[in-house]
Amino acid sequence: MMEDYLQEYQKRTPGSARLYARATEVMPGGVSHNMRYFAPYPLYIKKASDSRVWDVDGNEYIDLWMGHYAHILGHQPEPIVKILREKIFEGAHWGIVNEYQVAFAEDICRIIPCAEKVRFGVSGTEATMYSVRLARAYTGRKVILKVRGGWHGAGTDLSVAIHVPMDLSESAGLLPAVTEYTRTISFNDTEGTIATIHRYASDLSGVIIEAVGQYFIPPVDDFLQAVQEETRKMGGLFILDEIITGCRLSLRGAQGRYGLKPDLATMGKVLGGGWNLGLVAGRKDIMDLASPTSGLAKGRGVLMGGGTFSCMLPSMIAGRTMLRYLEEHEREIYPALEEKGRRVREGIENAFHSYGLPVKCFGVGSLFTTCFPSSREVPLRNIEDAEMNTDITRRDKEFRLRMFNKGVYTMYGGGAISMAHTEEDIGRIIKAAEETAAEMSR
Ligand SMILES: Cc1ncc(COP(=O)(O)O)c(C=O)c1O
Repeated sequence: MMEDYLQEYQKRTPGSARLYARATEVMPGGVSHNMRYFAPYPLYIKKASDSRVWDVDGNEYIDLWMGHYAHILGHQPEPIVKILREKIFEGAHWGIVNEYQVAFAEDICRIIPCAEKVRFGVSGTEATMYSVRLARAYTGRKVILKVRGGWHGAGTDLSVAIHVPMDLSESAGLLPAVTEYTRTISFNDTEGTIATIHRYASDLSGVIIEAVGQYFIPPVDDFLQAVQEETRKMGGLFILDEIITGCRLSLRGAQGRYGLKPDLATMGKVLGGGWNLGLVAGRKDIMDLASPTSGLAKGRGVLMGGGTFSCMLPSMIAGRTMLRYLEEHEREIYPALEEKGRRVREGIENAFHSYGLPVKCFGVGSLFTTCFPSSREVPLRNIEDAEMNTDITRRDKEFRLRMFNKGVYTMYGGGAISMAHTEEDIGRIIKAAEETAAEMSR
C-alpha cells in the first residue's frame, strides 16, 4: 500500500503532477538540474516572496531551499528589487566594460580577505573549473585534491567522487586521462589528508575544499588550518570554495569565520544578490595569469572564458547592492542568522529525541541538514560516515514529503535560514518537525 504521506502529497499537488508529466516529454527527467528532481515528482512553484513560495495548486510553503541557498535576505528583498527597478531600463547585458563591474570588484577586494583581484563569470561551476586551471598553471603541477562527496558543480576536473560509490565514474563521457589527476581526501580526517597531501607533494597543484562538509558537517578544530598549511608547505594552492559559505557564514565568508587566507576562493550564490554569478578571487600574482596584458606567450597564460553573459548588469548591480547591504547591516544580520539556525537545529533534534528517534541536525550558522542515523553513537564526521550510517531515504523522501505536507519546503532535510524568516516561521518549522516526528514514530 502507498505510504500515507505520499498519498497526501499527491492529493495536495495534482497541478505539479500534471506539469511534471509534460516536463518529462521535453526535458531529460523533466528537469535541468538533477537535484531538482525528487520522487514521485517535484513541486512546481509559481510565486515566491520573502520566506515563502507558493506552488501551482495554491499551497504555501516556508521555503528553506532559498534558491539553492542564494537568498540570504529572502525572495525579492526590497533593496535589490528597488535598485533593479531603477536600473533595469539601462539594459541587462551590454557585453562592454562599465563602471558597475569595477565598483563591484573594488568592494569585493575591500571586504573579502583573500581577494586581491577578481574574475567574474556566470556560474559557480565555471569559477571552480577556472580555479583548478589557475592552480595547475601557477604551480606547473597536475594533481588537484578534492573532498570525497564535495560538490563544486559538474565541471570535468571536479566530477570525481561526488556520490557513492565514490570510486565509480560520476558520468559517462569523462576522459580518465583528465580525471586521473583529481584525487580525494576525506573531510575532517586530518591525519589521512596530510598523508595524501604529502603523497602527491611534488605534483600537487592544490586542494579545493569547502569549509563546511557535505551535510553541512562542521569542520573539526584543526582540519582546515592543517589542510591550508600542509598544502602550502608542499607548494600547492589552497582553494576555498565559498560558493555556499561566501557572505553567509560571515560577511567575509568561511575565511573570515575560520581565520583562513586561501590563495584563491570561489564565490557565487549570496554574492549575486539573487542573480547568476560565479567568481574567482585571490592573490594578484595568480589571478594575473589570466590577464590579456600579461605578456605571457600563448599557452603560458591562463584562458578564463568569462563568457558572453559575464558581468551582466543585473548581477553586478544586485550583487554589489547585496554586498553593501550585508556590510552595512553586518552586526544585525549575522548574529540573527546564527541564532535562528541554532534554534531550528535544536528544535528539530528535540522534536525527534522526544519520540526516542535518533536524529542529527548538522549545520553552521544559518545552514542545516537533518539526518537519521541508525543510533546516536555512530560516527558522523563526513559524508562517508553519513552515507553509511544514516537513512537517506528517510531524509530525502519521508521527512521531505511530510514537511512539504505541513507547508515547509526542505531540501536534504534542511536548508538555509534567511533574514526573511520570521520568529513565527522558525516556530512553524519546529512545529512541522514535531508533527513529522510524531508521525514517523508510529
Ligand atoms: C560548493 C559549491 N561549489 C560550486 C557550485 C556550483 O555552482 P553553480 O551551481 O552556480 O554552478 C555549487 C552549487 O551548488 C556549490 O554548492
